[in-house]
Amino acid sequence: MIVLVTGCRSGFGLGVAVEAARRGHTVYAGLRDLSTDAELRAAAGSLDVRPIQLDVVDAVQRQAVVDQIVATHGRIDALVNNAGVALGGPLETIDEDELRNVLEINVIAPWALCCAVLPTMRAQRSGVIVNVGSVSGLVAMPGLGAYATSKFALEGMTEALWHEARAFGVHVELVEPGPFKTDIWGRNRSLSRRALDPDSPYAPFVAKLEKMVHGIAQDRAEDPAIVNRAIVDLIERPDGRLRHVLGRAAWIRIGARNWLPEAVYGAIVARVLSR
Ligand SMILES: NC(=O)c1ccc[n+]([C@@H]2O[C@H](COP(=O)([O-])OP(=O)(O)OC[C@H]3O[C@@H](n4cnc5c(N)ncnc54)[C@H](OP(=O)(O)O)[C@@H]3O)[C@@H](O)[C@H]2O)c1
Repeated sequence: MIVLVTGCRSGFGLGVAVEAARRGHTVYAGLRDLSTDAELRAAAGSLDVRPIQLDVVDAVQRQAVVDQIVATHGRIDALVNNAGVALGGPLETIDEDELRNVLEINVIAPWALCCAVLPTMRAQRSGVIVNVGSVSGLVAMPGLGAYATSKFALEGMTEALWHEARAFGVHVELVEPGPFKTDIWGRNRSLSRRALDPDSPYAPFVAKLEKMVHGIAQDRAEDPAIVNRAIVDLIERPDGRLRHVLGRAAWIRIGARNWLPEAVYGAIVARVLSR
């Protein structure tokens, strides 16, 4: 299969690219900045992983990558919309440009890439699109509102597309991981500019949140190999289902949100955050 994965410098993107190539697929691994390919190249070794310049917010690069793949192979079998950013900080501390940037990367870019591959997939009457959502697309946590806004939007977009594309033989899938150990919790973790303002009324909340996030990253985040394998399984054997929740913590959070009375659930979250 000819596979395009976005955001392959680290984390799930790198892992999916390598896992798919290990299973014999030809993988185009998009990088926001092609000069940051060292980890990917080291992990891929001699596998057929082809790093390619793809800043997902750049419309020209998006189309050029899809055109290059189709020109080379005459087809494109799978797209994994993985590239994403998580911006922490209470919603009131987020500036408009910061929210727009999260939405550009996490929502607009995956939508545009779906539109770029669909003509080829429709003509083939086959293809798989996997959008990497999050448990934050189903349950919004305080301090992660911008990220939740983007992942809820991705849920809606992907669900509509799931209906629209099936008539053409194209499978659309959404993975919804809980916390997994990737650079989103480390090198790529970001907070809104004003989140750490000591004069902000949210400062004590943000300090607690930071402690909690550190704890999740250290102790509770799971092995990303679980997600990498699940995504490649979905590319190889799409099962027709739209949503795929991944990880223990995701199931617990979704269960608590859906099954507890809202007031009880809200009180539990407030209690955890007041520790
Ligand atoms: N890990 C988790 O706990 C978790 C849970 C649920 C969902 N997710 C989702 O999983 C996806 C992958 O994240 P990850 O956990 O693997 O984190 P990660 O290690 O930080 O990887 C994110 C990747 O996205 C890339 N990226 C960011 N902006 C980009 C852009 N404009 N164009 C192209 N690539 C861009 C990053 O490249 P640079 O480093 O070069 O910026 C990086 O390679 C994201 O959609 C995230 O929301 C993660």
